[in-house]
Amino acid sequence: MRDMAGQIAVLGLLMLSAQGGFGAGSRIWTNIDNDGSKTRLTCALNHSATEIVGHRWVKGGKVLKEDALPDLKTEYEVDSEDRSGQYSCIFLPEHAGRTDLEVRGPPSIKAVKKSEHATEGETVILVCKSDSFPPVINWLWYKESKSGDQVITNSTQSKFFVVSSESRTELHIPNVDLKEDRGLYVCNGTSLEGTSQAAIRLRVRSRYDILWPLMSIVAEVLVVATIIFISEKRQNPDEVLDGEPVPQSLHSLLG
Ligand SMILES: *[C@@H]1O[C@H](CO)[C@@H](O)[C@H](O)[C@H]1NC(C)=O
Ligand SMILES: *[C@@H]1O[C@H](CO)[C@@H](O)[C@H](O)[C@H]1NC(C)=O
Ligand SMILES: *[C@@H]1O[C@H](CO)[C@@H](O)[C@H](O)[C@H]1NC(C)=O
Repeated sequence: MRDMAGQIAVLGLLMLSAQGGFGAGSRIWTNIDNDGSKTRLTCALNHSATEIVGHRWVKGGKVLKEDALPDLKTEYEVDSEDRSGQYSCIFLPEHAGRTDLEVRGPPSIKAVKKSEHATEGETVILVCKSDSFPPVINWLWYKESKSGDQVITNSTQSKFFVVSSESRTELHIPNVDLKEDRGLYVCNGTSLEGTSQAAIRLRVRSRYDILWPLMSIVAEVLVVATIIFISEKRQNPDEVLDGEPVPQSLHSLLG
């Protein structure tokens, strides 16, 4: 038994003509059913001239699900929080039928990487995405700091710049500074249905940090060489007194 809220939340039962090239005379029914934490999307063909060999669900160009079932009906279930977006259901083989479902909702913003590591002097690009519907119309970046959040925009005073589209925003940070640029960056996306955000932690390491492993190897070689040299000296004190050059074992160590 579905409750009242569930009933009211049923966004619509649409009947759309399958167009151009699709199975002649067939129709696709679509339904969007919000049932608490889950939203169920349904597509159904009333009949098909070609035998159905599977179904594919796509959102924002990404395949969500594909099966090889023969049914004239296909369903896709999504978390209600994450449901907003433009979906397509496709009946296979290709051209057997396809239609779009627009599920309206507040934007769901995702950081492509939740944390980013960079070496000072590099260029870093922080990226957030949203495939929500309606699309994001305003992206805003800011950096969290103790003295309040600093909004980052394209400006002549700053090296930062922002490149955005409906589904994606990029914050470019050229010549990353060890102290100034590390921290927590937030991308804020606003659509007609609301605002949401995601955070990205930027860690910056010194360019000398990459040298440390190399230097420790050099140091180890020096220590080993010294030990060998000293032990050789103890074994053959005469040779050293004679001013003989590098002992045999050190020769082989140095190649
Ligand atoms: C499917 O829908 C089309 C368009 O309304 C109609 O012409 C056709 O007869 C229907 N087929 C079946 C099996 O109901
Ligand atoms: C900011 O500058 C970059 C590079 O110059 C440009 O591609 C981008 O469109 C600008 N963004 C805005 C919001 O003006
Ligand atoms: C996100 O941006 C919108 C305007 O685009 C603003 O109203 C909202 O306060 C911002 N949210 C935060 C947490 O800064």
